[in-house]
Amino acid sequence: MCGIVGYIGKKSVVPVILDSLQTLEYRGYDSAGLAFVDNDLLTVYKASGKLMNLRNQLPEKLFEKNGKSRYIGMGHTRWATHGAPTDQNAHPHVSCDGNIALIHNGIVENYGELREGLTQKGHQFHSKTDTECVVHLIEELSKSEPDMMKVLQQVSQRLVGAYALVILDKRHPDKLYGVRNHAPLVVGIGEDELLLGSDVVAVVEHTNKVAYLKDGEIVELSPQGFKVINFYGEPIDAKVETIASGQLIADKKGFKHFMLKEIHEQPDVIRSSLSGRLITPEEPIALFQSDAAQRLEQINRIFIVACGTSYHAGLVGKYFIEDLVRIPVEVEAAGEFRYRNPVIDDKTLVIAISQSGETADTLTAIRQSHDKGSPVIAITNREDSTIARESDWVLPVRAGLEVSVCATKSFTAQVIVLYLLGLYLAETRKALAAENLQEIKSELQRLPALVEHILHTPEPIQALAKKYGNSRDMIFIARGINFPAALEGALKLKEISYIHAEGYSASELKHGPIAMLDRSIPVVAVLTEGIVYDKMISNCQEAKARDAYVIAINSGPMPEDVKDTFEDVLMIPKTHELLSPILTSVPMQLLAYYIAEFLGKDVDQPRNLAKSVTVE
Ligand code: M6R
Repeated sequence: MCGIVGYIGKKSVVPVILDSLQTLEYRGYDSAGLAFVDNDLLTVYKASGKLMNLRNQLPEKLFEKNGKSRYIGMGHTRWATHGAPTDQNAHPHVSCDGNIALIHNGIVENYGELREGLTQKGHQFHSKTDTECVVHLIEELSKSEPDMMKVLQQVSQRLVGAYALVILDKRHPDKLYGVRNHAPLVVGIGEDELLLGSDVVAVVEHTNKVAYLKDGEIVELSPQGFKVINFYGEPIDAKVETIASGQLIADKKGFKHFMLKEIHEQPDVIRSSLSGRLITPEEPIALFQSDAAQRLEQINRIFIVACGTSYHAGLVGKYFIEDLVRIPVEVEAAGEFRYRNPVIDDKTLVIAISQSGETADTLTAIRQSHDKGSPVIAITNREDSTIARESDWVLPVRAGLEVSVCATKSFTAQVIVLYLLGLYLAETRKALAAENLQEIKSELQRLPALVEHILHTPEPIQALAKKYGNSRDMIFIARGINFPAALEGALKLKEISYIHAEGYSASELKHGPIAMLDRSIPVVAVLTEGIVYDKMISNCQEAKARDAYVIAINSGPMPEDVKDTFEDVLMIPKTHELLSPILTSVPMQLLAYYIAEFLGKDVDQPRNLAKSVTVE
């Protein structure tokens, strides 16, 4: 969601802010702005659209050093929640007296009531955002309290919702303030400089030393250093950590888009996810470094919570774990889980899956699970995230920085970690014969080479993209453990090409969706050798009988007499049926990519989407 950057130090502030905002660009945004204090003047620039629009407004002199010993400023990329993505609604927002500027990530839920009260006190609003009320509230409270840290404590008592705030007050021109409550904020500690960021990605160009603020904390940055207090004014000893910054630097490595690069990284991502955990098929899976084994023995049920692509990975995990471990597994979208009263207890293991580790709904589901006594495992790509820090155990997926909004390699890595967890539980509970486990483990080790095989021949998929790229709708069908892969294939296509796509269990076709079928709606069918292969062929024949073009992603021995059911067939290598979603997903990722590219879409930053969804 919104990107936040703050800077106080010796470098010229505008280039630092623009560069850092650029590193956050991949998260998705629709307008941008910045503010800085120079010669006691608070200056603000804002622009809707891409960062380039903001850059084009800025006078060249702002990119030069002007002899000052210290610079201070902040910048923001906005993902609109309240009010359209216009210049006026872009952050920073400024107080009526022009002294205070503020940027915000999150949602202020009681903004209506606050706005009304502040309007009655004479404050004038210039935007339609929920955020603007906060800067007016700070201004109002500052009238009777000169200490900004105290004002911010009072503000925290008045705000309802999620917020990370950064505040610049020209009356304190060498200070920058930050507040964190249910939206991430990190302090970067460099040589003679301090930064604030909504993600460490925003600060790693400058430093690898960071302090993660916790919910309910306020920070003051000044030339003397930084100090943290909680919402009750008590001093907090913030822990400074050193991060492996190299892994967080985005680089397309010669590919046209991050998405294509990330699809091609999957063989290495699988190797890295397996490394040290699956050593040989004969050895037990090594997954946890802590006390997990004893605690997990008591578990009689699993509940997986996640959103979007991570939710689809969770569905694959359900098929796999139930099959191997014979323990019931439920999967629920975190946004649904949090607003009902799920039946979970201390014998339910909750698995929270999140690439970013900051998804608001998933984080809330973790907190609610803890309240009900359930232990939580986080499966995440960001060990430094809030979700990782709030879970009992973390299983890192080791996919490396994923820049494209469209998740690809993180899905594969999440599924691999769920496979490892399923194997681990099957082994520790002796749920499956050793030879069956070894067979799956051997196949897991072959997966990187099999994915490489698919990636080496993109031409047939490129041809399909041209043939079907102008379709208005597309349907993806599969059965069994590939049903979630079909859901994921449809999600990939719709989010980057804006073509309407739906994933269905092929068995459900005749219960409704078949009514839509005709020549204009291509049907992508996933057929892998196994118990549902023949059933899938029958379902495809039903679609073909309605005149639909059926495109097979096939690893099975297709009988001669059914070949004419399919308009196109993409052959993929054969593997264990339970592992096949890893292989069937790759052609669907590539199909979505090449269609979006054929249509000239903004592949890495699709409209309306954000990489890290930090509001509910
Ligand atoms: O960071 P998370 O895995 O928690 O994110 C969940 C979804 O927002 C995410 O998977 C989203 O659906 C992707 N854009 C899909 O490509």
